[in-house]
Amino acid sequence: MMRCLVQKKTYLVILSSLLLFALLLYWTRRAPTTVDVRSGQSYKAQNVLKERLQNVQNSYDNIPYVLKESVAGRLALNGCVCEADKKPAIDLPFAQVLFPRVWAQDDFHTAFQEAELAQVKSRRQQEYNSFQQRYQTPADLLVIAEANSPLQYPTQGVEVRPLKTIVIPGLGLKEKHRQLHTVNLTATLGTFDVLATVDGVSIRGQGMMHMTLSSRLLSTLNRQLQFVTYTNTLFHPRTADTVQFETDGHQSVFTMKVGHAVIPKLYHSVYTGEYSISSLVTIATKTFLRYDKLQDLIDSIREFYPTVAIVIADDNEHPQPVKGPHIEHYIMPFGKGWFAGRNLAVSQVTTKYVLWVDDDFLFTSNTRLENMVEILEKTTLDMVGGAVRETTGYTATFRHTISVEEGGEEGDCIHIRNGYHHVIDGFPNCVLADAVINFFMGRTDKMQQVGFDPRLNRVAHLEFFIDGLGILHIASCDDIIINHASKIKLPWGKSDSEKAYAKFRYSSSDAVQIKNALFYFKNRLKCMSSN
Ligand SMILES: *[C@@H]1O[C@H](CO)[C@@H](O)[C@H](O)[C@H]1NC(C)=O
Repeated sequence: MMRCLVQKKTYLVILSSLLLFALLLYWTRRAPTTVDVRSGQSYKAQNVLKERLQNVQNSYDNIPYVLKESVAGRLALNGCVCEADKKPAIDLPFAQVLFPRVWAQDDFHTAFQEAELAQVKSRRQQEYNSFQQRYQTPADLLVIAEANSPLQYPTQGVEVRPLKTIVIPGLGLKEKHRQLHTVNLTATLGTFDVLATVDGVSIRGQGMMHMTLSSRLLSTLNRQLQFVTYTNTLFHPRTADTVQFETDGHQSVFTMKVGHAVIPKLYHSVYTGEYSISSLVTIATKTFLRYDKLQDLIDSIREFYPTVAIVIADDNEHPQPVKGPHIEHYIMPFGKGWFAGRNLAVSQVTTKYVLWVDDDFLFTSNTRLENMVEILEKTTLDMVGGAVRETTGYTATFRHTISVEEGGEEGDCIHIRNGYHHVIDGFPNCVLADAVINFFMGRTDKMQQVGFDPRLNRVAHLEFFIDGLGILHIASCDDIIINHASKIKLPWGKSDSEKAYAKFRYSSSDAVQIKNALFYFKNRLKCMSSN
């Protein structure tokens, strides 16, 4: 009895020391459990890659070459300018209408005082650096696959969820027979292991960030490489691990994306064989001092779409009730402004699409929302603009392309031109553009993502498309037309509220200053050219 107890105790002691030992071993071998998410700290890989790139590029320095200037001129050098077209020698009548000249604005920095500019600039540089850290991952860095490498590995398309494990596809070694075939794997954000073992292969560093596999037989090593796993050990919602894969005399690098899956935001709407506009679309508008116009707009909408929801943002000083079925009227603080109103209206939309209209537009039988829905449903586009018909009969689509040229430390150059990129297959009246007129339908989630900067409180329109460049995929169709009730009108024909609106809307000289400051700091631009 006594002996039995003593034996049990000894077993227990041995067992617990074994456990302790195992635990210690586990602790010492485990990958680090702290993560450095400070900007600029997670880029160990950058240095490795830079060094490799140097070696690749320096090899042929002594061989001469001749520059081809026609092509060199097209390359972005480290700097850009915004240039206006020269004034033609002969001033033809209507020249500006027929051949619109490019104008340029090169003074965004003047939105700030001379004395504070240096500080603003360094502040902007800081913010820009941290923006780049947040938006780039090691998967965006340049990687060169060197010639004649015996190493086989995936160049792209490998993805692992944070803290999860995958089998790395495509690893292999192709070389002549030798005494011992060896490969090394080194990760920066996770550990390696094997899903299965193959006889005759020796493995060192299982469960660690550096693993070595070797075998006398190439075939067994290659078999073993099919079972190599990678486990991400540092949580990051969106980054990439840069893996070094080496054998004697050869090194390669590949990246595996680490990140959560994108969670979709899907809209459930009624579908009965044809598009139900009121279940798919909400009409949004912003009103200021023009209740008569707004009522005309609502009446015109109701003639064609009696049940579609209308969201109205209103920043009048003395708001008046706007009543009716399927109308949501949001009163804002007085004079909050144009983009603040757009932002508020769009934030309240729960349908898949939102249609933007100005409060002095009028629906007609040409205002076929079904056509806009159709192109959005059948393509990958995020937004489609229509055409606005003035009281004179002139119809405008206001299509523009936007391009950004890198400008180094001073900021980038933005170039806006009339025109479009391509006609869209299957939709002969529609083209791809980067900016469209203020009559457009868009995917609600995308519009909310870009947002309308509420600091733009007076005249603003293209600013939204500049913020959305690279996010929104936009079309413009000239066969979906809305009427403009006013604007081109003789001054004595204006009503009192219209006069007040015009005064309020166009009086503020600060507006230009605010705009320039946003271009300079928020968008990090130094200049703009346009036509
Ligand atoms: C592989 O890693 C080991 C150390 O873990 C090192 O001794 C060896 O030189 C490396 N081999 C190659 C080919 O890089």
